[in-house]
Amino acid sequence: MNKLGVNIDHVATVRQARRTDEPDPVWAAAEAELGGADGITFHLREDRRHINDRDAELLKQVVGVKLNMEMSVNPGIVKIALRLRPDQSTLVPERREELTTEGGLDVVRLRKKIAPVVRKLKGAGIVTSAFIEPAKDQIRASAECGFDAVELWTGAYAHAKRDIALAAALERLARGVDVGRECGLDVHAGHGLTYRNIEPIAALGIFSEFNIGHSIVARAAFVGLREAVREMKRLLDRALLLSRPAGQPG
Ligand code: PXP
Repeated sequence: MNKLGVNIDHVATVRQARRTDEPDPVWAAAEAELGGADGITFHLREDRRHINDRDAELLKQVVGVKLNMEMSVNPGIVKIALRLRPDQSTLVPERREELTTEGGLDVVRLRKKIAPVVRKLKGAGIVTSAFIEPAKDQIRASAECGFDAVELWTGAYAHAKRDIALAAALERLARGVDVGRECGLDVHAGHGLTYRNIEPIAALGIFSEFNIGHSIVARAAFVGLREAVREMKRLLDRALLLSRPAGQPG
C-alpha cells in the first residue's frame, strides 16, 4: 500500500530547455531511489519533448526498483517498450498540444486499438496499467482489455477548490477502487498530487501505488531530489499510520 513511483520527466524538461546534458534524468532516478522511491516512472513521448531514447535505455540498465514506462499505443513506441521490457507499462493518452497528460485514456472507445497492445506487452512479461478516469465503464473496459492494473486520474481531487468537491472526488476514487478490485485489478493513482493534498487520499489506504512528478521535482529545487522523495515517502507512511485503528498491525 502507498508505494511511491517518482516521475522524473520534469528533470528532462529542464535539460531540454537548454538542449544540453544536464540535469540528467538518469541521475535523478538514482537520487530518487536513494530517497526511498519504490518505483521510477518516465514517459517516452512520441515527440520526445523530455525523456529521449538514450534516457530510456539507461534507465532500464540502472534503475533497481520498479521501472514504469508511460506510453501511448503508437506502434513505434510499443516496439521500443517490447525491446526495453520495463517492469510496467502504463498506457496514457497523448496529445501534442498538451502541457502534460490531461485526463485518462478512453479505453471504452479505443478498446479495439488497446487490447492487442496489452496482449503484446503482457506476452513480453510486462505488467500493464491503464491511466483512466475513475469511471465504472472505463475500469470495466480496462479489465476486459486484459490490463493488470489501472491508475486512476486524481485531477478532479487535486483541482478541487472546496471541501464538498474534494469529498465528492475522494468518494468517486474510492468507488473506483472498489470496482477495480471487483474486476481483479491492482489500483494505482496519479496526477496533480502534492505535499499539500497527498495526506487525505493516502490515508484511505486503498491505493497500492501513487505516481507523483511535478510536486516532487519542484520541491527538489530547494531541498534536493533525495530529500524531496524522502519527505513525500514520510507523508505517505504517516497517513497510513494515522488512519489505522490503534492496535492494528501494519
Ligand atoms: N501519472 C500519469 C499517468 C501521468 O501522466 C503523470 C504526469 O506525467 C503523473 C502520474 C504525474 O503527475 P504530476 O506530475 O502531476 O504529479
